[in-house]
Amino acid sequence: MVAMIAENTGAPTPGAEILLESVRFVDAEVEVTWKHLPGVGRFLPFWLRDHSHASDSLNPDTLQRQVDTFSIPVDIAPRTLEIIDGGRTLSIVWQHDASVSVWPARFLWQIARDDGRETAAHRSLWDRAAMDGHFPTMAHADIVGSDAGLKAWLGLVERYGFALATGTPPTLEATAALARRIGYVRETIFGGLWDFTANLAFQDTAYTPVAIGPHTDGTYSIDSPGYQMFHCLEFNGTGGESTLVDGFRVAEHLRTTDREAFEVLSQVAVPAHYLGDGVHLKAEHPVIGLDHNGDYRQIAYNNYDRAPFRLPPARMQSFYRALALFDRLVNAAEFEITMRLAPGTALLFDNWRTLHGRRAYQGFRRLCGAYLNKEDFDSKLRVLRAAEE
Ligand SMILES: [Fe+2]
Repeated sequence: MVAMIAENTGAPTPGAEILLESVRFVDAEVEVTWKHLPGVGRFLPFWLRDHSHASDSLNPDTLQRQVDTFSIPVDIAPRTLEIIDGGRTLSIVWQHDASVSVWPARFLWQIARDDGRETAAHRSLWDRAAMDGHFPTMAHADIVGSDAGLKAWLGLVERYGFALATGTPPTLEATAALARRIGYVRETIFGGLWDFTANLAFQDTAYTPVAIGPHTDGTYSIDSPGYQMFHCLEFNGTGGESTLVDGFRVAEHLRTTDREAFEVLSQVAVPAHYLGDGVHLKAEHPVIGLDHNGDYRQIAYNNYDRAPFRLPPARMQSFYRALALFDRLVNAAEFEITMRLAPGTALLFDNWRTLHGRRAYQGFRRLCGAYLNKEDFDSKLRVLRAAEE
């Protein structure tokens, strides 16, 4: 429907105005070009009428559609096409009712660039050697002190899948406040903000002092928690280091070294379940979730919580082989980083990307934490970035 007919590798200079250069009606499509930008954008007239930015067609604040899509004639065609406002706007008068529609040049350019779909964020995949002991870190005061600081910290989490906040007051309240700078704390069966020590009251391994292998949380949740915050409030003992693994890096290793394993893990939906505490949750995710472009979307891996399912014999064998390989890789020293979370250092990580685990410990440990939804983190980052444009 909307297509670039020339490869567009150019991008506007940040802050530069995007202006239209030409418009014509050709082959039943409206074709435009932009000044100083390569490529041609082609748009169906019906699509254009549906996306008019005229005041009677689009709410300028909420961007909600006010057009009655289903009353647009299927054979709608332009009477006149014009570039106005010095190139900032395309204006069309329609043949059938002489009404006028307008579109900003920037809007058309963005649609022509990506069809209106967000592409995966710029990410730096890492393993132990790439991280080299230098973890993405900012001071708590800078994160809570300004929107620019928060934007920078969330940007680190987006890029690396985790970041640390040093100098965070070791209290539940400060941890909650830091989480709420991003979005609201997610309520789950474990409550909102957690505060746990070794506690066998909950039927989950996270509440015991034994080692926990790398995993993602909420494989049994349809909307697995997007982000997780940890803050160790007290520790008096030995062991207990936290481990992190970049799941996308491991997936990329598989993609380049074992296509069959990668294909199985990205195609087979693996059911997982959680029983206890009065609930029975169940959901399915591939271990390596991909988006519409084939970019990494979500890692979902917790072998303890995998629910029974069966595939045809050859596929089942292939799955088990691939799963064993994935498990070996996420447990390999070359992909793992370790850190001791001391009181004052909060960790925020992307639970759709970064696997976490913990070494066994002895002594007393009090950790608090929170889940945040993927969409709320994404929303906050969009708002912070839009404010700077
Ligand atoms: Fe966990």
